[in-house]
Amino acid sequence: MHKVITISELRETVREWRKQGKSIAFVPTMGNLHAGHLKLVTEAGKRADKVIVSLFVNPTQFGVGEDFESYPRTELEDEKKLESVSTDLLFLPSVFEIYPENPVTTVTVSGLSTLHCGAHRIGHFDGVATIVSKLFNIVQADLAIFGKKDFQQLAVIKKMVKDLNIAIEIVGVDTEREHDGLAMSSRNGYLSSQQRKNAPKLYQSLCQARDAVLQHTESYPAIETACKKSLQLAGFEVDYFSICKASNLELATENDNDLVILAAAKLGKPRLIDNVFFEKQ
Ligand code: PAF
Repeated sequence: MHKVITISELRETVREWRKQGKSIAFVPTMGNLHAGHLKLVTEAGKRADKVIVSLFVNPTQFGVGEDFESYPRTELEDEKKLESVSTDLLFLPSVFEIYPENPVTTVTVSGLSTLHCGAHRIGHFDGVATIVSKLFNIVQADLAIFGKKDFQQLAVIKKMVKDLNIAIEIVGVDTEREHDGLAMSSRNGYLSSQQRKNAPKLYQSLCQARDAVLQHTESYPAIETACKKSLQLAGFEVDYFSICKASNLELATENDNDLVILAAAKLGKPRLIDNVFFEKQ
């Protein structure tokens, strides 16, 4: 695995690969890699000749009071993990390399970015859309792979790529889960052992909500309220629990068939997010 820290080194390698006619898949990450990330990299390896992984904890997607400073940085372990899957190049830029002098340009995907997580983490998706578009410009890959756990992030990126005619294919990969259903996340490491025992309840309530939708027993607001209440009783502080249209993440009505149920809730320090998506018919 080749390791580079500057944009110019990365571009030189990519230029060389392009001369050789190689296709390139890109997996952007913030590090602290787990099996979910490795699944993205493995998928990338199946889809292209060369795989580039970036590891960059992007300051602009963290709000004031969020965990940018304490975000787990585990570069050496991450490198070892990436060696064990199909990574050809690891890009490890510094903050200065990416944001050298007071940048004033921001990418905003209006509408989508202010729903759900965007309503609780003001500016978060502007930070994500901006760094992802910068990384796409730097790497110039044929395709990029993202996890479906961050369903809203994936939707924001797909819309950005479409609206800006960025020549890249976006591939979503299913969420990797622990044996008890908890979605893998770098932030699970913040959970105390008691919180860890409770954490799978988020996914369980999403599944219960999906089953209730499929059984047509209650109205959507009633299902959402019941799930929020049972999560609160289990110690969660619920930001949102919403039955939405998968196409635009707006609240669904009983006439919509392509659905996603999105939820985010704090359990002590960490804020967990998860979702289930399904078709009603
Ligand atoms: O999903 C993440 O890890 C980050 O939001 C991403 C896409 C790498 C951008 O910093």
